[in-house]
Amino acid sequence: MAAPRDPARRALRADLLDFTADPGLGTPSPAALRHRPDHWLLIEHGRIAGVLPGSEGPGDDWQREDHRGRLLLPGLIDTHVHSVQLDVVASYGSELLDWLERYTFPAEARHADAEHAAAQANAFTDALLAHGTTAAVVFPSVHAASVDALFAAARARGMRLIAGKVLMDRHAPDGLRDDVGRARDECEALIARWHGSDRLAYAVTPRFAATSTPAQLAMAGALLRRHQGLYMQTHVAENRAEVAWVAQLFPEARSYLDVYHRHGLLGERAVLAHGIWLDDADRARLADSGAQIAHCPGSNLFLGSGLFDWQAMAEAKVPVSLASDVGGGTSLSMLRAMADAYRVQALRGVRLSAFRALHAATLGAARALHLDHEIGSLEPGRSADLTVWDWAVGAVPLARDALARDLHERLFAWVMLGDERNLVATLVAGRTRYRRGSDVAGVQGRPKKAASVARAATAGVIGAVAGSGP
Ligand code: GUN
Ligand code: ZN
Repeated sequence: MAAPRDPARRALRADLLDFTADPGLGTPSPAALRHRPDHWLLIEHGRIAGVLPGSEGPGDDWQREDHRGRLLLPGLIDTHVHSVQLDVVASYGSELLDWLERYTFPAEARHADAEHAAAQANAFTDALLAHGTTAAVVFPSVHAASVDALFAAARARGMRLIAGKVLMDRHAPDGLRDDVGRARDECEALIARWHGSDRLAYAVTPRFAATSTPAQLAMAGALLRRHQGLYMQTHVAENRAEVAWVAQLFPEARSYLDVYHRHGLLGERAVLAHGIWLDDADRARLADSGAQIAHCPGSNLFLGSGLFDWQAMAEAKVPVSLASDVGGGTSLSMLRAMADAYRVQALRGVRLSAFRALHAATLGAARALHLDHEIGSLEPGRSADLTVWDWAVGAVPLARDALARDLHERLFAWVMLGDERNLVATLVAGRTRYRRGSDVAGVQGRPKKAASVARAATAGVIGAVAGSGP
């Protein structure tokens, strides 16, 4: 008789791929890459326990899943995304400041309604899982209820999530502005409730320099000093009109980045989105502080913001991770972010290898967030946050995949031709949270209501709230 299977022990057979170091920006070098074709990845109690060659599978008491011929990666990490902007994805005809006013602020204002905030937080976290993203650094809205809803949704799915109440006490419409005292009190309560609870961490979140008074930025700096291990997230130097506006608002600052420096907001847990219009002094400042740039190529192309200088950042030794920036970006897929990053660099005359792009969405992001002891690789002891992918879906990608001569060529074709349809399964802490085609799979056609868009996009999300598994 076969031994009973232990639900705490799972093994997945696939082509395992992860990184042990930064592969560098230029010529693809496999040195930092760990490629173990046809291996079993062993998971015990939600953590990676080890690896075995495909021919030496684990015993009968392990729950085994055979994904031979597929790619197994660490869960992807999106270091800048707005959970309250699903409704504004693909809004026509704007640059940043007009886009915020016309589309984004009205959508965020709707999150004053706690029921709407909860529904959208569930739809958003399900959508992340359905795109292979298991960890994210997220902007909700200015409303404390939207932060509660987001953290609750992430906790129900076991996800690693960094977020915080958006701070805005000027240059925003009624219903989206707070003030220094109220914002401080709400942040303190949210930090007490969520920071360090399960896999959640709080980020002090001034939206950008233009929507906070100096007093509010100073309050944000004081919060960072008062509490251990908080993150800070904001936007910086994304768009030229925005940069000019910030220069007017803070004439005493040397640069846009200097506004944040003066208010004590830079540090090794700071995540600054964009950073397109920075100079060498800014990059040196970022490197000194240990802050990272969340590069959002899809958003930068969509909003016409500019072409990020990744090479200059790399030379200055500033960590760069990748991000979707939905809804400025139009897709939650980190494959799309990698492909767009390649295109942006190509326009600058630089070639971004698929290895470097994937590193920036896995181990590179985990290191920049000081979470590489937990996520970002397939190292034993890490949380089993994993994704399983088809190398190719559809006739043209399949034909291209068959012709690939080496691993880089294959991975590059996967990045450029693949998307969330290649995703077979997403595991969080060893439990399957998304499986293609399962559950409500097959929802097709044009959904009647906005809320059902997210439902259709996440067909296959498993037991997210109920937490059923594996
Ligand atoms: N700058 C300030 N707010 C935002 C936002 O919501 N999205 C983007 N892309 N940039 C911003
Ligand atoms: Zn953003």
